[in-house]
Amino acid sequence: MESIQDLEKSYHFDLYRRLPVTLVKGKGIHVWDSNGKEYVDFVSGIAVNALGHCHPAMIKAIKKQSKKLIHTSNIFYTAPQARLARLLSRISGFERVFFCNSGLEANEAAIKLVRKTGNMIGKKGPIITFSGAFHGRSIASITMGSDKLQQSFGPLPEGFLRLPFNDTDALRKNVNEDTTAVFVEAVQGEGGVVPASSEFMDALQELCQKNKVLLVFDEIQTGFGRTGYLFGYMNYPIKPDIITIAKALGGGFPIGAVLTSDEISRNFEHGNHGTTFGGNPLACSAAISVVKTIMDQGLVENANKKGSYLFSCLGKMAAELPIIKEVRGKGLMAGIELIVPCRPIVLKMLGKGCLVNCTVENTIRLLPPLIVKKKDIDYIIKNLHKVLSEEKA
Ligand SMILES: Cc1ncc(COP(=O)(O)O)c(C=O)c1O
Repeated sequence: MESIQDLEKSYHFDLYRRLPVTLVKGKGIHVWDSNGKEYVDFVSGIAVNALGHCHPAMIKAIKKQSKKLIHTSNIFYTAPQARLARLLSRISGFERVFFCNSGLEANEAAIKLVRKTGNMIGKKGPIITFSGAFHGRSIASITMGSDKLQQSFGPLPEGFLRLPFNDTDALRKNVNEDTTAVFVEAVQGEGGVVPASSEFMDALQELCQKNKVLLVFDEIQTGFGRTGYLFGYMNYPIKPDIITIAKALGGGFPIGAVLTSDEISRNFEHGNHGTTFGGNPLACSAAISVVKTIMDQGLVENANKKGSYLFSCLGKMAAELPIIKEVRGKGLMAGIELIVPCRPIVLKMLGKGCLVNCTVENTIRLLPPLIVKKKDIDYIIKNLHKVLSEEKA
């Protein structure tokens, strides 16, 4: 019989540099491969599985809703969509919600919303984004991201300007009353786990307020407790006009959303935007179970506490091992920059039953589920210390 990996190699687009394991089941922070080997998962489907794998609350919600109504399109009202919108509004303070299916789609909707808002008041300036940013892989969102993402995909749309991240002078020179909007991540995840500096965020808040520029936080990776606060922007004294969310919102069920004020949402009229699948009853039921569990079980606080412990362990490790150049991040979003490429380290960790991920070639990224326990952190740290100690710098 052909193996799953051979099947995949024969039939799927060859787009992903996959790790050589086929995962077949998961429970909590653990997953198992097709040979029965167990792993501790510090990837969480790239910051998605906030509740770990196959959480009973999610299973119950999906089972229950799938017996009632799975999909209707947005031609009709459905209860889970309305209830999830209310729940998100209550916990976030944003008055209005638009649902879609992924992070990229949330950003696409936000781009259209800020463009329309800007056009209505005669703004002609660009949407500003930052070096190292990642906002998705559509033509518009790669235009907001790094050069690497853009290579070979031109011509790209106009009306975007990329500035160096954490560069307050560049902000002051470029954000003005004509600027349409600024899109920013509180901690750049795909860009190497790089937090925005406080000085940069202060300047951003001041300039956006002064020039009436819409401030959009891409909370797709940082949202729902990942950085130790409900949303990443809450690490700073700043208030966005719009946030985009996805990933952990569905805990593994695909869903994304845009959150904003009633006033801004009203700049979209009937027919300006929409989606067939977005906010369908099954996705929204799954998301309600995830968001309620995060809030009811204090998982944001857990992320904050366990994040402090994780960073204290990483700090000690960095002081001992010269192969580590820098440790960065917030909460349960940690980046360990090495002076060597990190894929071989990721493969060795895999051998030891630890799932970790590599971003920007030399940075190991740890994104455990929010349910992580101290003993899981100890397990990963012990193995990472061992693997890095054996590595030649
Ligand atoms: C900050 C950020 N924005 C947008 C996206 C795109 O989300 P999706 O892959 O769901 O389209 C990602 C995905 O990694 C992300 O980290």
